[in-house]
Amino acid sequence: MLITFEGIDGAGKSTQIAKLVNFLTNEGVDVLSLREPGGTPAAEKIRTILLDNAHKVTPVGELLLFSASRAELVQDVIKPALQEGRTVILDRFFDSTTAYQGYGRGIDLALLQSIISLSTCGLTPDITIYLALEPEEALKRKFAKSSILLEFEGGELDRMERSGIEFYRNVQKGYQEIMRLHPERFVCINALESITVIHHHITKILKERFPR
Ligand SMILES: Nc1ncnc2c1ncn2[C@@H]1O[C@H](COP(=O)(O)OP(=O)(O)OP(=O)(O)O)[C@@H](O)[C@H]1O
Ligand SMILES: [Mg+2]
Repeated sequence: MLITFEGIDGAGKSTQIAKLVNFLTNEGVDVLSLREPGGTPAAEKIRTILLDNAHKVTPVGELLLFSASRAELVQDVIKPALQEGRTVILDRFFDSTTAYQGYGRGIDLALLQSIISLSTCGLTPDITIYLALEPEEALKRKFAKSSILLEFEGGELDRMERSGIEFYRNVQKGYQEIMRLHPERFVCINALESITVIHHHITKILKERFPR
């Protein structure tokens, strides 16, 4: 089974994935947890380029780097794990590409779709958990400071996070549109809830949808 987590930076994906991996492992499920971009030696190198402030990357370059990283991960790691019957949890997958590169950076959605199909070999998640949070709240969380403006003037943000609130607003709208188009696999969770409450929502939904 393939479970993906989506949401803007700071929504709580990594926090919830850690809790879910723990929970499923205790239940005796064989879990493999991975993040995008990255997950193979080549893909991890691509990740450092994407997150490095020193490298200026065009939107198309960014898309192709993400897609190259994904192709490696799908071929070398995800598909073999799924074939072995493992449960794979991904911290972001192609919905992030549609939301960030498509709705965020304005790359043509039909072109994006082709590149996504190519890089994933058509692999689709069984369930996608979207953690819904306002960009202002997400940034506040991430840096645990009161002023967002101050944060943008500071040097602590990586290249993607420098893109600003307006960008995240567009990404958020993108996710909403993607969810509208794929209600069969999306679950939208209010990420303002406490970490524990969200975790319980997630485990309940998984039990309901995939009873063993
Ligand atoms: N439900 C929550 N309520 C309050 N704070 C939270 C909640 N979930 C996560 N946090 C905190 O918010 C911050 C960001 O969470 P996390 O790193 O899990 O987000 P993320 O979605 O993985 O972000 P990124 O996309 O940047 O990796 C962390 O400091 C985390 O402890
Ligand atoms: Mg994270």
